[in-house]
Amino acid sequence: MQVTVIGAGYVGLVAAVCLARSGHSVTCVDIDPSRVAGLNAGVSPIHEPGIEALIAEGLASGRLTFTTPDPGWASLISEITIVAVGTPMADNGAADLSQVREVVRALSQAATRPFTLVMKSTVAVGTGAALIERYLSRAAAEIRYVSNPEFLREGRALDDWYATDRIVLGAADPADLAPLRELYADIDAPVLETDIASAETIKYASNAFLSTKISFINEIANLCDAVGADIDDVARGIGLDVRISPHFLHAGIGYGGSCFPKDTRALEFIAAINGYQFSLLKAVIDVNNRQRLLPVIRLARALPDLDRRKVAVLGLAFKPQTDDVREAPAFDIMPLLLEEGAEVAAYDPLARAVPLPAGATRRDTVWEALEGASAAIITTEWPSSASWIGSACAA
Ligand SMILES: NC(=O)c1ccc[n+]([C@@H]2O[C@H](COP(=O)([O-])OP(=O)(O)OC[C@H]3O[C@@H](n4cnc5c(N)ncnc54)[C@H](O)[C@@H]3O)[C@@H](O)[C@H]2O)c1
Repeated sequence: MQVTVIGAGYVGLVAAVCLARSGHSVTCVDIDPSRVAGLNAGVSPIHEPGIEALIAEGLASGRLTFTTPDPGWASLISEITIVAVGTPMADNGAADLSQVREVVRALSQAATRPFTLVMKSTVAVGTGAALIERYLSRAAAEIRYVSNPEFLREGRALDDWYATDRIVLGAADPADLAPLRELYADIDAPVLETDIASAETIKYASNAFLSTKISFINEIANLCDAVGADIDDVARGIGLDVRISPHFLHAGIGYGGSCFPKDTRALEFIAAINGYQFSLLKAVIDVNNRQRLLPVIRLARALPDLDRRKVAVLGLAFKPQTDDVREAPAFDIMPLLLEEGAEVAAYDPLARAVPLPAGATRRDTVWEALEGASAAIITTEWPSSASWIGSACAA
């Protein structure tokens, strides 16, 4: 099939390379010319294991091309046109839909023949209906709208694409889903077909539920500290119950990243503007905000002269196997340490180019970060982090 993917970020680029690998002809469009130039030279703008091999394979096969919108949207629209641009958090907690609106407006104005517009960006519940009314219904050609939320995890995105737990497709008319069934024919996963609002809600509800598990186990961890129980044993004991499952029961400094913080806030906002007080979700968010401050609070208690100490911050990315630092706990922890007067030395094996808060210094190796440090905070759960600390203690 002919496919256009708009947005060459974590979601759009993964979708583009995987669809090309499946045999579709894919044009991936991004407004960032340097990103497009790099991709055409085979360089990925994101760290994702295995992605550069698939970019090279797609370019070599001729089934994958990268371009900016400069040729004009009319020439870039395909029978399936997927929107995967960003929906960052606005100041009020809502999803900022300006990138999505801009693209859908441009596509609607440019459409000269029927096509299916697939929304992969995470958009507020009700967005699909609003876009149809505001733009698609006024287009010169028929545009069928399908909500197709994405569930991939950064760092495992390529595996997740092919081995996804489910494909969710939402449309006003089930007949609109026929091209999508063909698009995903080679993926062996349950396909759930719903209306548009339900598909939009499934995405937010999934992320809210996973966030709830994380905040729950962090609350239990804090309780374990108070009563002298071992959180690892407790989490294992809980997770062996098949109704609960062991996933997302790792106590730590809370969730971060480009999805959970913004999607939980956006769902809280969606509930509020629809007159519903989502008390549980509010508690989940509050617990998470507090949890990431705990390491500094504990350190300040343990080291009253923190203003004369060096602290190593090990990990900048929000989780291992990615260079994504969006909403990463390290970026709340470092300013707090600096406020306490500590010297901050930060290290991350992948996120090497991100700007640090003024006053913090970047170290090229974990050993340089730990050299002379009185304390280390493991802010990203890199598999090697335990051995870093073990070796440093032995030294
Ligand atoms: N990152 C994840 O793990 C993940 C997982 C599931 C869903 N999502 C959702 O998918 C969407 C995309 O997320 P992401 O992490 O890939 O974002 P991203 O910021 O990494 O990528 C978005 C890309 O869109 C491009 N873009 C913006 N406006 C454009 C325009 N007018 N025309 C062409 N390109 C344009 C940007 O240059 C950027 O490269 C978001 O709604 C996000 O919530 C993300």
